Amino acid sequence: MRPLVDPEFWRGRAVLVTGHTGFKGAWLTLWLQQLGAQVAGLADGVPTAPSLYELAQVGDTVQEFRADVRDRVAVHDAVATSAPEVVVHMAAQPFVRRSFADPHGTYETNVMGTVNVLEAVRATPSVRAVVVVTSDKCYDNDPSRPPRPFVEGDPMGGHDPYSNSKGCAELVADAYRRSFFAADDGARIASARAGNVIGGGDWGEDRLIPDFMRGALAGEPIAVRNPEAVRPWQHVLNPLSGYLRLAQALHEEPELQGGWNFGPALDDARPVRWIADRVSELWGDELRWELDPGPHPHEAHYLALDSSKAREQLGWQPSWGLDEALTSIVRWYRALRDGADMREVTLGQIRDFAAGRLAA
Ligand SMILES: NC(=O)c1ccc[n+]([C@@H]2O[C@H](COP(=O)([O-])OP(=O)(O)OC[C@H]3O[C@@H](n4cnc5c(N)ncnc54)[C@H](O)[C@@H]3O)[C@@H](O)[C@H]2O)c1
Repeated sequence: MRPLVDPEFWRGRAVLVTGHTGFKGAWLTLWLQQLGAQVAGLADGVPTAPSLYELAQVGDTVQEFRADVRDRVAVHDAVATSAPEVVVHMAAQPFVRRSFADPHGTYETNVMGTVNVLEAVRATPSVRAVVVVTSDKCYDNDPSRPPRPFVEGDPMGGHDPYSNSKGCAELVADAYRRSFFAADDGARIASARAGNVIGGGDWGEDRLIPDFMRGALAGEPIAVRNPEAVRPWQHVLNPLSGYLRLAQALHEEPELQGGWNFGPALDDARPVRWIADRVSELWGDELRWELDPGPHPHEAHYLALDSSKAREQLGWQPSWGLDEALTSIVRWYRALRDGADMREVTLGQIRDFAAGRLAA
């Protein structure tokens, strides 16, 4: 039986990852390098310091394009020069809070950035498959709707500019698929919706695990906002395995174009309070958390994804559950604290994940 992420498929294949300097992009780029793909990356810089990108020397073996996705000429040149067969588009302004401060920049980056990438793909015949990464927040999370997990056909929406921009990016991908990529020999366009991914190497602002780990490394108590909010937590490698599996499948089956949910098992949707308690327990050293009274911007309260489509049609499932995710994260930051080679640590976690285990 072929593995979910098939090394035979990826070996030697040209892949462009936008946002390769970011948290998810750095993990994906390392994984693709481990699979033997020829990876190119496009990003406007490195979003955090420190970063997984720098700690794991992700840039050393990538053809890099320093470009802004809002610059259509630069995006076109990067796609034309790298001539990829697969594009995974992840470059985005990914923060809800920042989207309130800069709605214009958020829409430009997340919506027109997606238009620019798809325009560049139209002009580049080598491209066979595109995965546009959006978010679970792309759905219309109307508080009056019954609290059931979202399925792919649910309406797009989004209360805040970030979520809404991801709903818009979904609509853009859909319009391009219908208008410009309908031919059998054209590129195949899919979008991927996942949310709240966690893993080693994240220093993003206003995110639970980075906030915890900053506190843990500094030996300070962690400030927690919205402790009762339930979120569908999962390790970053779970949706990344879905993106890779989806790109593989698009090559063979054009009818798989469209939107895909990649969410965790439903019982891995836990309140923030539970995560805080478990991370404190795993880290030890009397790591404590306390309530951050706010103010906090609006965040939708219940968000869960129904991933039956990916399970049934792609054979995808989250390989690591929540406890494996939290254990691997605590190990990752402890290794960092202890001065380990973080490229090796990260590649080791990818190997474990691909083998469906977590080394003792
Ligand atoms: N991390 C999560 O929990 C999460 C959840 C749902 C969806 N997503 C989506 O996954 C993708 C990656 O998120 P992440 O957590 O890795 O974010 P990140 O901030 O760590 O990385 C963002 C990447 O995009 C690049 N980028 C940002 N603006 C750009 C611009 N104008 N031009 C070119 N590059 C630009 C950054 O340089 C970086 O490489 C995003 O599309 C995000 O919306 C993330």
